[in-house]
Amino acid sequence: MSQYNVLIDTSTLQERIRTLGAELVKTFESVEDPLLVIGVLRGSVLFMADLVRAMDRPLETEYIRASSYGDARVSSGTVTLSGERPDVQGRHVLLVEDIVDTGRTLKTLVAALQTEGVASLTTISLLDKPSRREVEVEADYVAFTIEDAYVIGYGLDDAGLFRNLPFVAVVDGD
Ligand code: IMP
Ligand code: MG
Repeated sequence: MSQYNVLIDTSTLQERIRTLGAELVKTFESVEDPLLVIGVLRGSVLFMADLVRAMDRPLETEYIRASSYGDARVSSGTVTLSGERPDVQGRHVLLVEDIVDTGRTLKTLVAALQTEGVASLTTISLLDKPSRREVEVEADYVAFTIEDAYVIGYGLDDAGLFRNLPFVAVVDGD
C-alpha cells in the first residue's frame, strides 16, 4: 500500500483555482459565444469541476479521452485519443489538463484540435513538471509548478486509485 505526503492542500488548491477562474473570465471577456471547456479524461475531472464553478460566464463542458500511461508510472510515449470527440469547429476552446509531464499528451491534443478548426485554443493545467519535458510545449495557464515526483489525488491516480483525495500528494513508497 502506497504512503503519501500532502503537497498541495485543499484550501491552497481552492484559492488558486478561484484566482485562475477570475483571470480566465477576464481573458475571455470579449468572447460573446459560450466558451467550450474541454476536460482531458480522466485526470482533469476534479480540477475542471472546481474551475468551471469559478468562472462566472457562459460556457459549455465537453470531455476528450487521452491516455499514455496504462497502469505504469512511466509514460509509454504513445498518446492515444479515443472515443467520441467534441465538435470544436469555430469554437473558442479552453483545454483543461491535470498535469504536463513529458508534454506528449498536451502536444498531441493541441495539434489535433488545431486541425479541427477551433476559433481559438487556450490550455490550462493544474500541474506542470517542467523538468520532465521531452517535447516542446507549455500550457498557457498553470495552477502549480512542481518538482519531479509522482503525484496523486485531486483527479490524479496511481494505477486507478487515489483520484478522490481532496488534495495533491506525493507518493513516497510502495
Ligand atoms: P505527458 O504526456 O507525459 O505530459 O503526461 C501527461 C499525462 O500523464 C497526464 O495527463 C497524467 O494523466 C499522467 N501523469 C503524468 N505525471 C503524473 C503524475 O505524477 N501522477 C499521475 N499522473 C501523471
Ligand atoms: Mg491526463
